[in-house]
Amino acid sequence: MLLTGAAGSVGQQLLPGLTGFGLRVLDRAAPDEAGGAEVVVGELTDRDLLARAVSGVDAVVHLAGDPRPDAEWDDLEGPNVDGFAALLGAAREHGMRRVVYASSVHAMGRYESAGRFPIDPTWAPAPCCAYGATKAFDEALAGVHAAHGGPSTIGLRLGATVERPTQSSQLTGWLGPEDLRRLVVAALEADVTSGVYPGVSANTRNRWDLTAARRDLGYEPRLDSEVFAGDVEDDGRAVTTCVL
Ligand SMILES: NC(=O)c1ccc[n+]([C@@H]2O[C@H](COP(=O)([O-])OP(=O)(O)OC[C@H]3O[C@@H](n4cnc5c(N)ncnc54)[C@H](O)[C@@H]3O)[C@@H](O)[C@H]2O)c1
Repeated sequence: MLLTGAAGSVGQQLLPGLTGFGLRVLDRAAPDEAGGAEVVVGELTDRDLLARAVSGVDAVVHLAGDPRPDAEWDDLEGPNVDGFAALLGAAREHGMRRVVYASSVHAMGRYESAGRFPIDPTWAPAPCCAYGATKAFDEALAGVHAAHGGPSTIGLRLGATVERPTQSSQLTGWLGPEDLRRLVVAALEADVTSGVYPGVSANTRNRWDLTAARRDLGYEPRLDSEVFAGDVEDDGRAVTTCVL
């Protein structure tokens, strides 16, 4: 299995959950921890490097990208759009079985701002920022590949994926490390051709409808941000996505 973006924050939290998978990792930076995996260092848009990275691999967990909701389009386009398109093309060419990729709750952020929840993953994408729009595009392109004989694609709309919430805005959409690992492994193994699912823990203040994730992926989150609610800094926001 290939993990992209392994050197990043989510990749480092996820790695301990992938020990049984025979792992290769790809990142433009060498990861601090690679769990004994073969490491490929370079850019997603380098076709030769990508071909080497996907060769002989049955599935990929794709995290490489720019995670900043306030980033400008010029910074997002390369990693989040061109990079993902290149990865999907390589996965298809090499007959890969499954692509599990990091989308974001920001692809549906306008619903959270408008107070429309629980947010149903089948509603039309409603990004709250250019970052969310790149993720909505990724979901659309992944669906095209899956529908036209390419790899099966599962998008995970990750929430605030941190060890523990430290700000009030993370309480609605926190995804804790053990739930992240459960969710990704479930997405790798589920009997699903294509889909997009929210990636959040079982938070008391949750705004994302997890019915389909439970049904299709067998994802059973166990963590709740509420246990940290008394310790977080009040950042004046009650939503995990952008305030509009
Ligand atoms: N951190 C969160 O709370 C969060 C929430 C929702 C979605 N996500 C998504 O999860 C993924 C990982 O986020 P993160 O917080 O770990 O980000 P990060 O910036 O910590 O890590 C991303 C990694 O991807 C690598 N990378 C970026 N562009 C690359 C390219 N073109 N080629 C090769 N490597 C490249 C970087 O070197 C980095 O190590 C992103 O797609 C992000 O949008 C993260």
